[in-house]
Amino acid sequence: MNTLPLNHPAARTALITGANNGIGLELTRRLLTEGWHVAALIRSAFSNDDEITGSAIRDGRLRVYTAELTDFTQLAAALQNIQTNETAIDVLFNNAGGSLPELRFSPQGREMHYELQTVVPYVVYRELKELLLRGSLKTVIGTSSNAFNYTKVFDADNLARPQRFKQLTGAYADTKLAMSLWTQALAPTEAEDGILLRSADPGPNNTIRKGKKSGLPFPVNYLMRFFFAPPTQGAGRLYDAAFGQYKKEAGTLIDKKGIVKLKFADQAERVLENVDRIYRKEFRILM
Ligand SMILES: NC(=O)c1ccc[n+]([C@@H]2O[C@H](COP(=O)([O-])OP(=O)(O)OC[C@H]3O[C@@H](n4cnc5c(N)ncnc54)[C@H](OP(=O)(O)O)[C@@H]3O)[C@@H](O)[C@H]2O)c1
Repeated sequence: MNTLPLNHPAARTALITGANNGIGLELTRRLLTEGWHVAALIRSAFSNDDEITGSAIRDGRLRVYTAELTDFTQLAAALQNIQTNETAIDVLFNNAGGSLPELRFSPQGREMHYELQTVVPYVVYRELKELLLRGSLKTVIGTSSNAFNYTKVFDADNLARPQRFKQLTGAYADTKLAMSLWTQALAPTEAEDGILLRSADPGPNNTIRKGKKSGLPFPVNYLMRFFFAPPTQGAGRLYDAAFGQYKKEAGTLIDKKGIVKLKFADQAERVLENVDRIYRKEFRILM
C-alpha cells in the first residue's frame, strides 16, 4: 500500500455514497488498500469489526459524512460539511440505492426510489462539481442496473408518483434507467468542463443482509442468496467503469460486456429537466 498524505499532489480522493455496506463497502476497501483517501457519504456507520475501514477512519484517510440521503435537510447539511472539509474529489461514485419492499415516499413527497436513485445522485453531483473540478480525474460513476432490460413502458413525468408498485422491475428499475438517462443527457456539457460522467451496472451480487427486509421478488432473493457473486465483483465493475478501458467515455452505461445502448433515450432530456428543476427549486435554497 502506498498511502500519500492529502496535501501530497498525487494523493487521490474518492467520494462514495453507500460506502458502508455491500458493493460500496468493497469499493471503499479496495481503494483504501490501494492508498486512496475516501470520503464516505452514508446513513449508518461502518462496522467496528472491519480492520481496513477502522484503521483508515483512525488515521483520517476515511472521512465519514452522515445523512439519510432522501431527506433534503440532512443531505444539504452533509454536503455543506463536505464542501467545507474536503479539498478536492477525484472520483465521485453515486452508489447508494436498493430495491424496497413497498411503495414509500421521501420527506419531499416523491417516490423513494426516484428520490434516492435518480434525484439525489444529480443533487450530489451538482453540489460537488466544484470539488471535482479541483480533482485530477474528474470522473463520476453512477451505479445503475440491468433491471430495466424488460421495461416496456417508461414515462419520465410519472416517476415521482407512480400509480402502481412492483418490486424490482417497477420503480427500482425505472429510476435506475432514469439515472442513466440523465447521465447521458448531461454528459456532453459537463465534458466541456473536463468532467466525465458515466453509469455502470455492477451485475448480480449477493448483498443480502440479516434482518433487512428485501425488496426482491422471491425467485430473485433465492438466486441472490445461493448463486450471485460476492460484492467484490460489483465493486470491481464500478472500479473498471471509472479507471478501465472506457475511462475516456462520457455519458455511457457500462456493463460487463461493454457499452449498453439505453432504451427510451428520447426521454433523456426530459428526465434531466425534471431532476434539474427539483435541484434548483427545492434543494439549492437549502444550501
Ligand atoms: N446487489 C446487486 O445485485 C445489485 C445489482 C445492480 C445494482 N445494484 C446497485 O448497487 C448499489 C449498491 O447496492 P448493494 O447491492 O451493495 O446493496 P446494500 O448492501 O444494501 O448497500 C446499499 C448502500 O446504500 C445505502 N443506502 C440505501 N438507502 C439509503 C438512503 N436512503 N440514504 C443513505 N444511504 C442509503 C445503504 O446504507 P445502509 O447501510 O444504511 O442501509 C448501503 O450503504 C445500489 O445502487 C444497488 O441498486 C446492486
